[in-house]
Amino acid sequence: MSTKIAVIGGTGMNSWPGLDVLARIDADTAYGKPSAPLLRGRVYGVEAIFLARHGEGHKLPPHAINYRANLKALAEAGVQRVIAIAAVGAIAPWFAPGEVAVPDDLIDHTWGREHSYSDGRPGSALAHVEFTHPYTPALREALLAAATVAGVQAGAQGVMAVTQGPRLETPAEIRALQREGSDMVGMTGMPEAALARELGLDYACLAVSVNWAAGLSPAGAGIHDEIHASIEAGMAKVRAILERALPN
Ligand code: HPA
Repeated sequence: MSTKIAVIGGTGMNSWPGLDVLARIDADTAYGKPSAPLLRGRVYGVEAIFLARHGEGHKLPPHAINYRANLKALAEAGVQRVIAIAAVGAIAPWFAPGEVAVPDDLIDHTWGREHSYSDGRPGSALAHVEFTHPYTPALREALLAAATVAGVQAGAQGVMAVTQGPRLETPAEIRALQREGSDMVGMTGMPEAALARELGLDYACLAVSVNWAAGLSPAGAGIHDEIHASIEAGMAKVRAILERALPN
């Protein structure tokens, strides 16, 4: 049986304790090795693959992740649907730390990352993939329906700004992202989403607000303190949503 669904876990979900691992796949692709072995196993009655985006031990910074190898390895393992878990900073007032949302659009501020399979190599085709809906609408709807069944309130849309990191932003940068219409900010959403699209994979994101973005904390709290205080509550909501979403 080939595995059709994968979860890419990031900060706060670097492993998946609920997954009964059946195989560790040491994948190697034409673009190199993924961040970690693909863990194929069973969870919530279905087969799924887990990939630790930042590698085993959470060592890879966002700009050093081999996103092309990650997505290619999943595709070569038979995956058709990818659910990306991303811890993000909140810009919109509705997205307090500990809340989850399913973004519907993004703005890419990353640079210098290997961001396309359409790279001019011999054999690669020039493809301008459509990105009007950067997150697969049907998969987004499935996640939102699962959240409803799980009794988890999830933001039904949102614009994700993706910054280069690994440093956090300045308050002026966050005000600029706010003006351009971003509701949340993370460091790994791109090129991940675009590469999934280039490969024809369904891709959607469960974003977990873990802090107010720089300069926005009403309590003036330190970002790392906020992350520490909120991340587990948010990840518990993610697990509850996955438990309902995966079997469907
Ligand atoms: N900015 C960028 N990425 C993040 C943040 C943030 O405030 N919090 C978690 N990931």
